[in-house]
Amino acid sequence: MFCLALQAIKSNKLFILDHHDTVIPYLRRINDNTTSKTYATRTILYLQNDDTLKPMAIELSLPHPDGDQFGAINKVYTPPPADQKEGSLEEIIWQLAKVYVSVNDSVSHELITHFLHTHAVIEPFVIATNRQLSLIHPIYKLLHPHFRDTMSINAIARQILINGGGVVELAFYPAKYSMEFSSSLYKDWNFTEQALPQDLKKRGMAVPHPESKHSLRLLIKDYPYAIDGLDIWSVIRNWVSDYTSLYYKTDEAIRSDTELQMWWKELVEVGHGDKRDEPWWPKMENREELIESCTTMIWIASALHAATNFGQYTYSGYMPNRPTNSRRFMPVEGTAEFEELRENPDRAFMRTITGKLQTLLVISLIEVLSMHSSDEVYLGQRDTAEWTVDLEAAAAFERFGKALAEVEERIVERNREEKLRNRHGPVKIPYTLLFPSSGAGMTGKGIPNSITI
Ligand SMILES: [Fe+2]
Repeated sequence: MFCLALQAIKSNKLFILDHHDTVIPYLRRINDNTTSKTYATRTILYLQNDDTLKPMAIELSLPHPDGDQFGAINKVYTPPPADQKEGSLEEIIWQLAKVYVSVNDSVSHELITHFLHTHAVIEPFVIATNRQLSLIHPIYKLLHPHFRDTMSINAIARQILINGGGVVELAFYPAKYSMEFSSSLYKDWNFTEQALPQDLKKRGMAVPHPESKHSLRLLIKDYPYAIDGLDIWSVIRNWVSDYTSLYYKTDEAIRSDTELQMWWKELVEVGHGDKRDEPWWPKMENREELIESCTTMIWIASALHAATNFGQYTYSGYMPNRPTNSRRFMPVEGTAEFEELRENPDRAFMRTITGKLQTLLVISLIEVLSMHSSDEVYLGQRDTAEWTVDLEAAAAFERFGKALAEVEERIVERNREEKLRNRHGPVKIPYTLLFPSSGAGMTGKGIPNSITI
């Protein structure tokens, strides 16, 4: 068994969905002081020959009752044997173990991946750009469309979503600790690691490979977010490179642009002031740093936000599949709750996951979040044709639009390939979250220029 596991690790077949270290510091307070009753989870997944991931073990952890110095109390669950008949107690317990993973994951998605890593971190870029760059500065013209409506949607979120007693605190398991949980993880934020290629490498989903497209080899070949995302990333990067090279012919031109330097200084030292001493900040001394930084900003505001936001209703709109809270621990043998789990597993399941009122709140919220407004402006579009008088810049922008249209064609082709199982899943919904254009409403596709919802 040990040899098999070692072999699986060596051949990059084992993956981990690790919510342990982020959740455990908050778990004692959450479980003691709120109605939530949940765990910190780790899930081991095995990469099968068809490129799909199969969960092999789930660890549920609680803080040690005698104090954190004693570590955590951990219990590991495994899937029922293949010959086990459907509806067996082992299968029910395995399903419930997966519920706690889902609870961790849905909160991590909403509070960290969506809110912290797009809405929150982009705000200082919006402010510094508006304060330090003049309207006619080329970098202002490049970035401004990607900041449209972001300050106002964040202000609305502060009033009704992430405020004390708001929807997030009511319906997600960290309850009144939700924003403390989210903001504390800002300490781990690294701007340069939000560049998609760096993100994939950091998460162990890709390794450097100079001969491959994008110079990366994906460890899961059928990984729709990475494959479509790298196409979008490189199209954005080419556009930013084309555009900035019109205005900055040398690295010295970057260093001697005082407006640009003041912009970056304010962003690093004031906007993201808590992170001002991080060694990873680009110094903004050469063209490469300008191109990579602007590409990363545009990526966060457009494609990253689209991929995390506009599929929420489609993928999470059925609460039993994606609960945001748990109100009971795993039942222990010999208790009334354990008997209920054995006798009426559906009822036990419903009494564990998010309650009725909270479910209504969450589903209403993600339905609204998953909709495009009728005045949305998508990647490759500008709300006015007069955004530049520079013909070379306009021509480069046109090339950008054509390259995005080609990405759309490739996404359609990939979604036709039935053997790419992760693009469809068991319910046969094709992966379209990084398809750039869309109409209004809930379309499950479309990359708006900016974070508007
Ligand atoms: Fe959003």
